[in-house]
Amino acid sequence: MENGVNRVALIGTGFVGSSYAFALLNQGVTEELVLIDLNKEKSEGDAMDLNHGMAFAPTPTKIWYGDYTDCAQADLVVICAGANQKPGETRLDLVEKNTRIFKSIVDSVMNSGFNGIFLVATNPVDILTYATWKFSGLPKERVIGSGTILDTARFRYLLGEYFNVDARNVHAYIMGEHGDTELPVWSKADIGGKPILEMMKQKEGYKEEDLDEIFVNVRDAAYHIIERKGATYYGIAMGLVRLTKAILQNQNSILTVSAYLDGQYDGKDIYIGVPAVVNRQGIREIVELELSEKEKEQFKQSVEVLTAIKNEVFT
Ligand code: LAC
Repeated sequence: MENGVNRVALIGTGFVGSSYAFALLNQGVTEELVLIDLNKEKSEGDAMDLNHGMAFAPTPTKIWYGDYTDCAQADLVVICAGANQKPGETRLDLVEKNTRIFKSIVDSVMNSGFNGIFLVATNPVDILTYATWKFSGLPKERVIGSGTILDTARFRYLLGEYFNVDARNVHAYIMGEHGDTELPVWSKADIGGKPILEMMKQKEGYKEEDLDEIFVNVRDAAYHIIERKGATYYGIAMGLVRLTKAILQNQNSILTVSAYLDGQYDGKDIYIGVPAVVNRQGIREIVELELSEKEKEQFKQSVEVLTAIKNEVFT
């Protein structure tokens, strides 16, 4: 924060990045937002378009199209840039392509003298957050991935719909890979302090398969949205703004982010979605829950899947 002014540098103004910028402006989260993208024309247009809404914003945000030198004074660099998965492309193909892109991005940011926090959104987010940590050389606490923050929000929304309760009063986490091996932490899910597993069984019309149906809809949500509109961006953008607020406003919020495990949950040398306390310093601590035996096994499998891919790319 230069002379008390928060600066966010956004790298990548595609669907996710521009939605994040729009949400950031509308929620009045930061004093400065610099847009950086290879597509200068589009990004300059975004800056102009956003600035023309300034009169409607809750608080002024200085927005401009800039370059990597603007990262020197940034408190937070958010990376939404990268290639999207093409039909028939394997995750490993995508990982290798995006890892090369990230090397270039992170080197450019660090060469500016940046000494803040990285927030990574590009998929596969757990691997690319690990890459950002490796390439930047920053302390692991200051490299954060969006992880399962959106999956957890989807889980809370669907449970809120099921019980007709405000999603903000549903406490339920999705942990693990942001992807097919993620897991619902049913054992610790509650609404208003009442365990959801108990509430489920007391609910009129409850069917055993309701649990699985809710979770599958969470896990596969992105596929269903992409089938319909080609990409997802509003939900993840709002999740990134939530994380930005927790960081810039030093909120010590517990959010399921992609964090570096150094033994927690028996994970080592991997970034993966876990509940963590997030504040101005980045990740203050990882919240270690007592998972059920089934959840422990599912989490272990998720760690193994990510570790195998990480080892393919980095060894
Ligand atoms: C999704 C993208 C952000 O889950 O991976 O919608």
